[in-house]
Amino acid sequence: MAESKRIKKIAILTSGGDAPGMNAAIRAVVRKAITDGLSVTGIKRGYQGLLSEEFVEMNSRSVSDSVQKGGTILRTARSEEFKTDEGRKKAADICRKNKFDAVVVIGGDGSYRGAQSLSREGIQVMCLPGTIDLDIACTDYTIGFDTAVNTALQAIDKVRDTSSSHERCSIIEVMGRNAGYIALWCGVASGAEDILIPENYNYDEQEIINHIIESRKVGKTHHLIINAEGIGHSTSMARRIEAATGMETRATILGYMQRGGSPTCKDRYYASVMGAMAADLLSKGKANRVICYKNGDFVDYDIDEALAMKKEISDYQYEVAKALSK
Ligand code: F6P
Repeated sequence: MAESKRIKKIAILTSGGDAPGMNAAIRAVVRKAITDGLSVTGIKRGYQGLLSEEFVEMNSRSVSDSVQKGGTILRTARSEEFKTDEGRKKAADICRKNKFDAVVVIGGDGSYRGAQSLSREGIQVMCLPGTIDLDIACTDYTIGFDTAVNTALQAIDKVRDTSSSHERCSIIEVMGRNAGYIALWCGVASGAEDILIPENYNYDEQEIINHIIESRKVGKTHHLIINAEGIGHSTSMARRIEAATGMETRATILGYMQRGGSPTCKDRYYASVMGAMAADLLSKGKANRVICYKNGDFVDYDIDEALAMKKEISDYQYEVAKALSK
């Protein structure tokens, strides 16, 4: 691990889609860093706020009453300007001007790539995985996923009740960008008859139609399809399935409700440990790392190594989902 120059002042931002538990992570970074003798500047509105120098000095009281709250107290944004070379150079200059020895970035894959590009401009970074999508390759856990799947599951259970009463087919679309983790977990946990994920879907609607017809024959009262956002088109799919099967079919797109709400205990706990680890590493002068949860433990990796990693949805788990839907 590369030892870097002594770190005295850090900045922290949240970027991309917000995720429940981000506040617990911010709180842990701020309090542990202050305990370790570092000073902390909050950057509002992600990389965009860095470019427009929206800074706020943080102390232990800045993060009071936040551990239980959804969203992010630092606000978040997606910045087009930061995606340009000029934007990144400008951001690095702003960091140097404000004497930020390191920037803590809490966000998803895109935010990590932004942090990597800042590190290439000579700014030290530290990343924490904050996304409901679980789609960061280097880690088995991301802050917000647990809350999001539990929130989605509650909604799916409710739709399931009314689908049974009306003997309908329901297509429920969940978030996840191009990844199917939310759909897979919610599909298995809700007992869905079909789970459509971008990683495995073959776009053969006839297979779904046949499955619905077979399920009716064996006495199923409803047919629940969990469809990942990366496949989308739930409303038109519902129309086609109804026309082909004669079974009333409705689409429900859960949308942003999945991203809000008070974080679960797991998200608060993991985010707290990860945030404290980030501050610990920085106070020891270690940067350009990403904090991960891998094979049952909290670990850190070099940012370039982490971003070169790949992960895939387990074929076995997907087969389990199919087997249990009979
Ligand atoms: O990355 C989190 C996420 O909620 C994805 O699941 C979704 O595709 C995306 O963000 C939506 O982003 P926005 O808030 O920009 O609409």
